[in-house]
Amino acid sequence: MTREFTVVGVVGLGTMGAGIAEVLARSGVRVVAVEVDPAGIERGRGHVEYSTGRAVAKGKLAEDARARLLDLITYSTALTDLADADLVIEAIPESLDLKAGLFAELDRIVRPEVVLASNTSSLSITQISVHAGRPGKVVGLHFFNPAPVQRLTEVVRTVVTEPDVVTDVVDFARRLGKEPVVIGDRAGFIANALLFGYLNHAVAMYESRYATREDLDAAMRFGCGYPMGPLALLDLIGLDTAFEILETMYAQSRNRLHAPTPILKQMITAGLLGRKSGRGFYTYEAPDSPTVV
Ligand code: 3HC
Repeated sequence: MTREFTVVGVVGLGTMGAGIAEVLARSGVRVVAVEVDPAGIERGRGHVEYSTGRAVAKGKLAEDARARLLDLITYSTALTDLADADLVIEAIPESLDLKAGLFAELDRIVRPEVVLASNTSSLSITQISVHAGRPGKVVGLHFFNPAPVQRLTEVVRTVVTEPDVVTDVVDFARRLGKEPVVIGDRAGFIANALLFGYLNHAVAMYESRYATREDLDAAMRFGCGYPMGPLALLDLIGLDTAFEILETMYAQSRNRLHAPTPILKQMITAGLLGRKSGRGFYTYEAPDSPTVV
């Protein structure tokens, strides 16, 4: 039996969770979006409204289609509102303890056949799944930032994920207009394992004053055709998120390429998190704004 995934829960409305909620609603899926507190909800709602408002301003989305899209998303601070969900996608901060606790709680709330997916970028899906009481129905479903734009989704199966769960999630990702790839459970999966060694190397070049941020970014944009340079991309990803991903990959691989360059930690401590805090390697007009000042 193929699962339809008519109502999908999204837990955590940071940059990724809000982007995922938008992707789902853009495809006509009903979304129950859960955050811990009203401030988190307002941040998530603001993110979706800003992003879809931009699409309307550019003539890419009609105003009434935007209104329908926004209507498809219900916001809540109660996990119990996920009781009718057919699939839940978790996008909370990258802490195994937090995710383990959440999956244990979700397991008590949703129906036994419901699939639980994690958008983790580098934590082990297997380790998360054992807390769910239904490890066979747990997968990784990893989106890329900005979620409404990037076409890739990595579908991560563990040694116990049921094959039909993988097939249904792959079909669903295609329904969302994404290009799914299926992989096993290894830190960084495909894209981050390849990408973050490169990003970390760029930070090391910047830290040693080998080149300016502008020249580092220009080299990769104009020399290699990347849509943005590595430091601008780190600002988009968030320096805190990037640091966590590097640390997790380094702990697993012991590959020095993934040992976080020290200045990253210093910038995070000083509150320079990238676009979301208004300043990272570059300074932005407003949090989450793509405009560099
Ligand atoms: N939300 C929604 N849509 C957005 C957006 C956002 N945050 N940012 C840009 N867009 C849309 C724009 O509306 C525009 O849409 P249109 O073509 O329909 O008009 C399109 O994206 C292009 O945007 P812009 O013209 O404003 O700017 P650019 O052409 O410079 O593109 C970019 C911006 C899409 C961010 C592009 O520079 C890019 O693809 N950069 C690389 C991003 C990347 O590598 N992401 C992966 C990061 S790793 C990751 O996410 C893994 C995780 O685990 C950390």
